[in-house]
Order: sequence, then C-alpha cells, then structure tokens
Amino acid sequence: MRIVLGVTGGIAAYKAAHVLRGLREQGHEVRVVPTEAALTFVGRATWEALSGQPVSTTVFDGVEQVEHVRIGHEAELVVIAPATADLLARARAGIADDLLTATLLTATCPVVAAPAMHTQMWENPATVENVAVLRERGWTIIEPAVGRLTGADSGPGRLPEPEDILEAALAAAHAPSAPVQQDTSSAEAGETGPLHGTSVVVSAGGTREPLDPVRFLGNRSSGKQGAALAAAAAAAGADTTLLAANVDSAVLADLPTNVQVDEVSTTAELQAACMAHASTADVIIMAAAVADYRPAQAAEHKMKKSGGGLVLELVENPDILRGLVEARDAGLTRTGQTLVGFAAETGSPETPAHELAQQKLLRKGTDLLVFNDVSGDRAFGQDDNTVVVYRPGDAGAQEVARSTGSKAHVSHDVIRAIIAERTR
Ligand code: C5P
Repeated sequence: MRIVLGVTGGIAAYKAAHVLRGLREQGHEVRVVPTEAALTFVGRATWEALSGQPVSTTVFDGVEQVEHVRIGHEAELVVIAPATADLLARARAGIADDLLTATLLTATCPVVAAPAMHTQMWENPATVENVAVLRERGWTIIEPAVGRLTGADSGPGRLPEPEDILEAALAAAHAPSAPVQQDTSSAEAGETGPLHGTSVVVSAGGTREPLDPVRFLGNRSSGKQGAALAAAAAAAGADTTLLAANVDSAVLADLPTNVQVDEVSTTAELQAACMAHASTADVIIMAAAVADYRPAQAAEHKMKKSGGGLVLELVENPDILRGLVEARDAGLTRTGQTLVGFAAETGSPETPAHELAQQKLLRKGTDLLVFNDVSGDRAFGQDDNTVVVYRPGDAGAQEVARSTGSKAHVSHDVIRAIIAERTR
C-alpha cells in the first residue's frame, strides 16, 4: 500500500520511527508528512532515511507536481502518530495550513490517528468533541494508552505502542466498512454504522451470590471486556444496553453516554434482566461470568465464627445462556436473534482450553462463541485480551475470527464477527 505517515509535534514522535519501520518491513511504501513542530523532536534526515522518500512540511515544496493534492489522492491509508490535540482540532475544522492537513483534506482513504497528549488536553471538551466528530466522519482514533506522560504526571494520553498502532492501522485499511473500526469509547460515533437500528444487549462483570448481608461468592471478572463490547456495539450504531453485574464504577464511568446501563448483582437478577430483553434484542452477548452455584440459603444476619470449620450447601444456578437459546429455538424471542456466548477456559492436562471452548459452543447451541484463555493471569482485570471466535460449522466448531490487543480492539473484531454472522 501507499501509506502517508503523518507525524505531529509531540515528545512521542520518536515512536513514529518504529511505526514507519514496521510499515516498511511489511513492504509498504511510506511517505512521511511531519508538521513543522514534529521536526523539532525528530529531524527531517531521520524520516527521509527511514522512508527513502523526500520529506516536506509545506504545500510550497514540489508545487509543480501539486504535491498537496497528489499525496492525499494516492494514499491508500493515512496513519497519524502521534496526533496532537492541535492536529485533531485543525483536521476537524478543515484547516489546511500545512502539507499534512492539506493531505487530510484530499485523502479519501481510511485515516487512523493515534493521539498523544496530556490527560487534561485529551479530556478537554474541545478535544472530546473533535474526536467524536472525526470518528463520525469515519476516522479510526485509537484510544491513548494510560501511563507516565512527559513530566512527572501520568494518566490517559500516552501514545500506544508502535505494534498496536500498526495493528489498528492495517486493520482499518482492510476493514470493509470504516465505522466498525472506530474506537469504542466514542459516545456519538456510529449513529449510521452497520448496526444502526439493531438492538444489542451485553452482559458484563461477574454475578455475586450473597452468603450473608456482608459476604458473597463471586469471581474475578472486572467487566472491562463486556463494557468494551458494549462501547464497540454502540460505535457501530447499535442501540446498546449493558447489563452490568458488579462492574467497577471506573469502567462504567468510561462508557459512551449512548450505552444504557442496567446494574444487577445476583445470577437471578441477571437472568431476569436478560429475559426481559430477550423479546426485543437482536443480539445478546453473554460476556458476564455467571456464578454456577449459589448458597442454598443466605443468612439473614452476619455469620459468626463457630470455632470449627464451615460447610456451605450450594445449589446450581440456572444457565442463563442455555435458557436464552431454548427460548429462541422455541420461537419465543425476537426473530433472527443472534446469541453469543463467552468461554473463559484454562484447559486441563487432558483437554486443551480451545477444545473445551469448541465443545462448549456445540453444547450451548449459541450462534457464536468467544473463547478466551484465562490460564495464568490472562484476561481477568487486564487491559489486553486474546480471543478466538467460533461458529458451528458442518464439521464442528469453525474458527471465524481471532484477535489480540486491547479489550477495545478485540471488541471491534468480535462485533465485526457478529455483523458477518448476521449477514451470512
Ligand atoms: O458454562 P460456562 O459458564 O463456561 O459458559 C460460559 C457462558 O455461559 C458465558 O457466555 C456465560 O455468560 C454464560 N453463562 C450463563 N449462565 C450460567 C453460566 C454461564 O449464561 N449459569
């Protein structure tokens, strides 16, 4: 591909050199278009040497070849890393006062921006609005990483790692439709996306079963993956509801405002919420970690130590997903409903994790099953995830997608697999 790599003036500009090298190693032709400020951080010679192409910041170089139009026209992908708040503002406004912004106005290919700036700048309403508008126009804006910033401060605003930028950029370039690749945290994005007019319900977090008024049986699910899925569905235009089972408040606070949140706690509450949505939902994604058992009885008052051991009697919880499949198969739910299960497996010496997941798909009878390997410390509470998506094929479970990266990135790929399944 012919790729334009826009570099703007931030301390992270040096990381763009790694992005450039990665793109070149994959055989792409890359034209680097820095802003004048970017050259303060990394000089022209570096970009020219690494790209093997001339570097200019202004529309007044190469005028005879009408460079400011030609570069944009010929580009098959534009990647901007780092993208400063200033660049996002100028691009949103359509200002074309240097070669990069002029190129952005003439480019018709996918545009992927990796912002980097101080947290306050990223969270400033002006930047938030600029990002939302650019996403609506089809830009892929990668969520900045959280961590140490230029000074002693830290927070969201770090440039994501070059490999993540490369992955998101190439995914956007090959995406059949840009909106699905948009970042999940945009509230407004995707109102006209591929899931527009579709109702998506996502369960997230982990159910808790009370033992007494202060104790419960629970699990380690943070709800991050489910929340990211809800955000991805909303970004793709779906009317989205998150059934949040004990999801961290910080995770809920980060959700786009167009995701409706219903909070539940126990399996019974989650089941009631799922069933209430079953007749209207086009897609139900069961990402929640549901407790398989609950105490036969919850003590009314706080249990006291007895001096000896404690034997708890547990009874089995209903399998909500299985109930949804049965209701759908009996024609009791919305026609054409797509049911998606999750399988968090560690595997065992006898059976590898992915085989357990494949068996689960066939046992549960869902349309898709998202498998994540949770052996070791993987998945729970982490920001990254690796998943494989299966559907029932003629010869057992058939792999339809595989994704690794941030939970937001993985969510886009899962939503894409769901869209593909619904249009199959
Ligand atoms: O059987 P297992 O718990 O591994 O299945 C996982 C899938 O089933 C997840 O999608 C989970 O949300 C769902 N599930 C459920 N009700 C249960 C247990 C799991 O809906 N009681």
